[in-house]
Formats: sequence, structure tokens, C-alpha cells
Amino acid sequence: MMGNFQVELKRVVDDSYEIEIGFGLVDKLIADLQSGLVKVNKFAVVTDSTVEGLYAVPIAEKLLAAGFRADVFAFPAGEKSKTRATKEWVEDAMLEKGYRRDCCIIAVGGGVVTDLAGFVAGTFGRGVPFINYATTLLAAADASVGGKTAVDTPLATNLIGLFNQPKKVYIDVAAWKTLPARQVSSGLAETIKHACLASRELFDYLDAHMDGLMKLEKDACEYIAHENCRIKYEVVMQDERESGLREVLNLGHTVGRAVETVSDYRLLHGEALAIGLAAEVKLAGKMGYMTEEEQQAVIGLLKRADLPVTIPAYIDREAVVKKLYTDKKVKNGRLRFVVQNGIGSIVEFSEGVFAAPIEEEVIRDIIMKL
Ligand SMILES: NC(=O)c1ccc[n+]([C@@H]2O[C@H](COP(=O)([O-])OP(=O)(O)OC[C@H]3O[C@@H](n4cnc5c(N)ncnc54)[C@H](O)[C@@H]3O)[C@@H](O)[C@H]2O)c1
Repeated sequence: MMGNFQVELKRVVDDSYEIEIGFGLVDKLIADLQSGLVKVNKFAVVTDSTVEGLYAVPIAEKLLAAGFRADVFAFPAGEKSKTRATKEWVEDAMLEKGYRRDCCIIAVGGGVVTDLAGFVAGTFGRGVPFINYATTLLAAADASVGGKTAVDTPLATNLIGLFNQPKKVYIDVAAWKTLPARQVSSGLAETIKHACLASRELFDYLDAHMDGLMKLEKDACEYIAHENCRIKYEVVMQDERESGLREVLNLGHTVGRAVETVSDYRLLHGEALAIGLAAEVKLAGKMGYMTEEEQQAVIGLLKRADLPVTIPAYIDREAVVKKLYTDKKVKNGRLRFVVQNGIGSIVEFSEGVFAAPIEEEVIRDIIMKL
């Protein structure tokens, strides 16, 4: 007998997880695992070559000492490793060591590691749990909340991946101490972005505490780690799958990502974002949403965080304009931009619409002059 068969699969999921922010959280991680945070006792510690010796190996050693099984899988540090090839390498290395479905991945590192490891976890054995131990300010500021995991392709960043929520995120503010200064600045770019789009209060705090932050003063670091999570959470919780509101997190990223790709990753993500924010405030100014003073306040804060606000000479600006079209917000071949409204809020163009079509000529002009 022929016929159609309806597969009823309505799911109610609880993907809730905790983000713990603190100073040195390895012992807390071990204690959480001992009290059953995940139901397995085999841990693949995925990391990169720089973080390996600093934090990943010490974590693996403590796991072993606690009676768990653990192995470290380290790939070369840097955005250039965030590829399908690296994902495959991690998967094969895990399989070779006997890892199957009964394991948990612990990502130890920055956003490159957490993005890649979260993607591996999503497909390894059709999905295993994962935990993020974030060691950069950028990962704390941005990559920890939202459940986006991905790898880059030659065409553009983050094109292949999935939404996958970790079981828990640890933000170890103490780990920022070993970060190169450039990486600290890069992380501050996302923080400044969050302030621009959602919180005048955070913007003023950054303005008042930028010098202390650059010296990684503990209280200031914990405060911004918390505020970053709160702002991103509030946006993401209202819009888990990026329909409308979540696009506001793209502030500065349209030009930023294009510049990042065209620089061939000579610019760090946050540095490219800073340039993108500088372009975006000019756009907001042109559209009448920001005064000259407000634009200068944003640009001044980026500069105090040691971030670039102009396009470096080695970058082909025409190529940047072309790259804008690989942005995920492009609709029917038209560029769309998120625009800030003064400092601390975003323009809502119509109900639930936070990105507006912008003529290429307008943004080209800004890019050429930046
Ligand atoms: N999933 C998301 O929602 C999301 C959001 C924002 C950014 N991202 C992604 O995050 C990535 C950028 O994050 P990132 O800046 O953390 O990159 P990263 O992971 O490459 O880390 C930056 C560099 O710092 C090193 N490092 C990390 N922790 C260290 C420490 N404590 N001490 C010394 N060195 C350390 C790393 O080895 C690397 O060389 C990008 O790929 C971006 O796409 C993802």
C-alpha cells in the first residue's frame, strides 16, 4: 500500500546554561564536572597552539587527576585555522583516540576555538555536549552568548556552522593577563559596540575606566564581562534565530567583516570591527541619527582603546565595497545596515526592522574617505 506518513516531531527544548564569570575558574570547572554537569567522563579538550600550554594542558591534568579521561587536541592558533579542514582534523584525531558519542568537548581558548569546537560538538557522533572555557576578552564579550558556532570559508567568515548551545561557559578574567595588548584592544571593540547599541551607561563607564581597563584592573574587567553578557543575552533571548532584533548585534560588522576578509586577517576581528564602527557612525551622521559630537565620542573611545579607525593603506577599498555583498543582511542584492541612534540605542526603521537598505554610493563614499 502506498501513502504518506506524517512524522510528528514537535520539540520542546531547554537549552538553558550558566555563564560563570570569575578569576581563575579551573577548580570550579572540575568541581562542576564532579557534581555531574555532564553525564560523561571522557573529555576532549580542544584548544589552539598558544592556549595549549597556558590553560588547556593544566585543565587536562586536573581532569586526569580527578579520575576523568582527557586528551588535548590543539590546532595552530589564529583565524586561519577556523576552517572545515581543521574541523576534520580535530574529528579524525578524536576518533583515532577512541572518542565516540560518550564524550564531552571542552573548548579552551578564544572565539576561534569556541566557534570551531562548538561546531565539532554539534556534528561529532551526531552531537555531543560541549563546555566553553573562554580565555579572551573577545570570546567573553561576544562568542560566549548566542550559541552560534561556525568555521570560515575562502569566500567569507562564519559561513558554515550551526546553532549549538554549550552546557556551561566559564569566563576566566584572570586569563586576560597573558593576552597580547592587541588582543585586549580587539576585545574592547565588541564591548564598545555593545555600549553603542544598547547602553549609554556602559559607554560612559568605558569612557571613565578605559585606562584601568587597558591595564586589566580586576573590577573593571569583571564589570564589562558581565555587561557584555547581559546586553548580548537580552538581545539574543528575544530573538534566538536572528530574525530581526538580533541583527542589531551586527552594528559595525557590515564594513568590519569586509575589511577583515580583504585584509586577509592581518587585522584582528576587533580591529576590523573598530573600522566598521567608524564607518557606521559616519553613516548614522549622514542619515541624521548622530551628531558630530556623538560621532567623535565613539571614534575617540575606539582610539583610546588603541583601535584603528581608518582603513590601512594596504587594503584595496574597491575590494572592500565588493565584499560588502557577502554580508548576511544583503537582501535582493541590496546592502542593508544597522544604524545607531545617538549613543546607546539603535534605529528601528519600522516595527521589528533594524537594518535599512543603503545605496552602494553612500557607503562607498564613506569607505573611500575613511
Ligand atoms: N560565536 C559568536 O557569536 C562569535 C562572536 C564574536 C566573535 N566570534 C569569533 O571569535 C573569533 C575571534 O575571537 P578571539 O579574538 O578570541 O580569537 P582567537 O581565539 O584567535 O584568540 C586570539 C589569539 O589569542 C590567543 N589567546 C587566547 N587566549 C589567550 C590567553 N589567555 N593568553 C594569551 N593568548 C591567548 C589565541 O591563541 C589567538 O592567537 C572570530 O573567529 C570570530 O568570528 C564568534
